[in-house]
Amino acid sequence: MSVLDFGVLSTRRAKITAVSHYLPERRVTNKDLEKIVDTSDEWIFERTGIRERRFAEKGQTTSDLGAAATRLLLERRGITAADLDLIIVATVTPDMFFPSSACLLQTKIGAQKAWGFDLSGACSGFIYALATAAQFVGSGVHKKVLVVGADVMTSIIDFQDRATCVLFGDGAGAVLVEPGEDDERGIIDFILRSDGAGGQFLYMPGGGSLNPPTAETVKKKMHYVHQDGKNVFKFAVRGMADVSQEMLGRHGLTGKDLKLYIPHQANLRIIRAAIDRMELSESQVAINIDRYANTTAATIPICLSEAHESKRIARNDLIMMASFGAGFTWGSLLLRWEI
Ligand code: ACO
Repeated sequence: MSVLDFGVLSTRRAKITAVSHYLPERRVTNKDLEKIVDTSDEWIFERTGIRERRFAEKGQTTSDLGAAATRLLLERRGITAADLDLIIVATVTPDMFFPSSACLLQTKIGAQKAWGFDLSGACSGFIYALATAAQFVGSGVHKKVLVVGADVMTSIIDFQDRATCVLFGDGAGAVLVEPGEDDERGIIDFILRSDGAGGQFLYMPGGGSLNPPTAETVKKKMHYVHQDGKNVFKFAVRGMADVSQEMLGRHGLTGKDLKLYIPHQANLRIIRAAIDRMELSESQVAINIDRYANTTAATIPICLSEAHESKRIARNDLIMMASFGAGFTWGSLLLRWEI
C-alpha cells in the first residue's frame, strides 16, 4: 500500500504560523570573560563578532528554556498546548539522555495529546527539525507541530578553555508548523547534508557508549566541547555558502530576491563569506551574534523571532535559512513568510 492509499494523507504546504524565543536574563560580556580566561574583548570581537551572550541560571535546563519560548508561542497563536500533535526538540544539550527533552517539555507545558522526540543536528538541528515537521504536516498526518531549537551550551563548555568558552551562549526559539490553506506561502524547499568524516573536528567525546562517564573521563574533560576551530571554520565557510547558492540556483533566484537571509551565527566572518558569495546587502541579513553568540540549535529561530517582532519581515517575503555545525551537518531552507 502506498502512503496515498491511507486516504487521510494529503499534500499541503507546511507553514510557520507562529514564532517566539526566550533568552535567559543573565548577560555575560567579553569583559566579564576577561576575568575568567586569558582573553580580551578586542580578540573576541575581531575574530568572531561576539560582544556578549546570555547564560542560563544554575538548574535552568534546555526544556525550561524551550517551555518559556513555547508558552509565548501558544499565546501568540491563540491556542493551548493540548492542541499540539507533535513536539520536536532540536538540541545537543538535552536535560538528560532520557527521557527526551521533548517529553520533559511536553509535561511542562501540558501537551497531553502530543508525542515527541529530540533531534541531534547541532547547529543545523533547527533546520533539520523544521524540514522533518514539514513532512508530518505536508503529508496530512499532523496539523500542529511544535519545533523547538534550544541549547544550554554553558552545560558543556570548559570555562578554562579560552578557544571555546567565548563562542557560545544559551537560548531557545520555537515555531509552530501547520498546513496552509493554499500553496502560495510556506516552506518551499530544503537541502540537508551531513558528513560524519567531519566529526573529528567538533565533538563531545564523553558520556556516551564510547566513553561512559567515569572519574577518568571527567578528569580528561571529555564532557566538554572539543573543537579544531580552524578546520571547522574552513568547512563552514564553504559549506554554508555552497548550500545557500545551490538553493538560490535551483529556484532561479539571486540574492536580490531574498527579503531576509538567516545564517547560523557561529562567526561573523563565516556569515560574511556567505553573504559576499550571494551579493547580499547587510540589510538583508539577520545578525545577532554580537548579542547572543552561538546558541547552536536556538540561533536560527531566535533570529526569525526577532525579525518577526521588529516587523522586519512581512507576509509573502522570501526568507532563506542556512546553517553549518557539528557532524558535520549543514543545510538551507527556503520559505515564503505567512504571518
Ligand atoms: N582569546 C585570546 N586568544 C585566543 C582565544 C581567545 N578567546 N582563543 C584562541 N586564542 C589564540 C590561540 O591560542 C592562538 O594563539 P597562538 O597563535 O599563540 O597559538 C590564536 O589566538 C589564534 O587562534 P586561532 O584558532 O588560529 O584563531 P582563529 O582566527 O581561527 O579563530 C575561532 C578561532 C574563532 C574559534 C574560529 O576558528 C572559528 O570561529 N571557528 C569556527 C567555529 C564554529 O563554526 N563552530 C561550529 C559551530 S558549533 C556547533 O555546531 C555545536
